[in-house]
Amino acid sequence: MQWSACREGRISMREHAELAVLLRRSYAHLPQFFGGVRTWSYVRPEARVVGWDLEGPAAHAGVLRRFLQVGGREQLAAVVGLVAVRPGLQRQGVGLALLDRVRAFLGELAVPFGILMCAEQHVPFYERGGWRRLSPRRAVYSPDDTTEPQPFVDEISSTTLVLPVTQPDWPDGEIHWNGATV
Ligand SMILES: CC(C)(COP(=O)(O)OP(=O)(O)OC[C@H]1O[C@@H](n2cnc3c(N)ncnc32)[C@H](O)[C@@H]1OP(=O)(O)O)[C@@H](O)C(=O)NCCC(=O)NCCS
Repeated sequence: MQWSACREGRISMREHAELAVLLRRSYAHLPQFFGGVRTWSYVRPEARVVGWDLEGPAAHAGVLRRFLQVGGREQLAAVVGLVAVRPGLQRQGVGLALLDRVRAFLGELAVPFGILMCAEQHVPFYERGGWRRLSPRRAVYSPDDTTEPQPFVDEISSTTLVLPVTQPDWPDGEIHWNGATV
């Protein structure tokens, strides 16, 4: 596997087409996204971490830096999402290798934390990759930043995970994303 971290402006149309195939296959349960050459869901990332093999992109994660408000204070974090491994390669450790590369890239960005929200079934995967599950707390986020404004989701999230990068402890308090998750 050849790994690369690529800023959004450097991704060619051909690469978007290949990434869309990967995302379409990996997120077969979300058929509304990744048709054609679209390679994002609720918001466009600013960079990607991608693992390539002879067939093309095999593993992918999107990254977007953002200031969230946590407990009323501004908190810079790298939102991580669009985490995907080609279905035929899953459960072989590629996902954990991807999370290692994501951690290294966030280190290069020197952000204090990574943050993501995921389905309950994926929590063990992220925890194996060094992410920490936050205790349940209020999370307010946009359901989709790619269309017209919609009311924000306001819920108690028990599946918010953070990755300490340059700081050790995520601050307490409710999380206002002021945008969508990647
Ligand atoms: C989630 C995903 C990226 C994991 O990639 P992967 O290459 O299969 O993960 P790994 O093989 O590195 O798994 C490492 C560990 O994570 C956990 N894990 C991974 N997939 C899991 C699953 N489906 N159920 C339970 N635990 C799982 C296991 O502890 C696993 O270790 P093990 O195989 O020794 O038991 C991959 O399943 C995927 O692309 N899913 C579809 C897209 C998606 O839903 N992404 C997550 C969005 S939040």
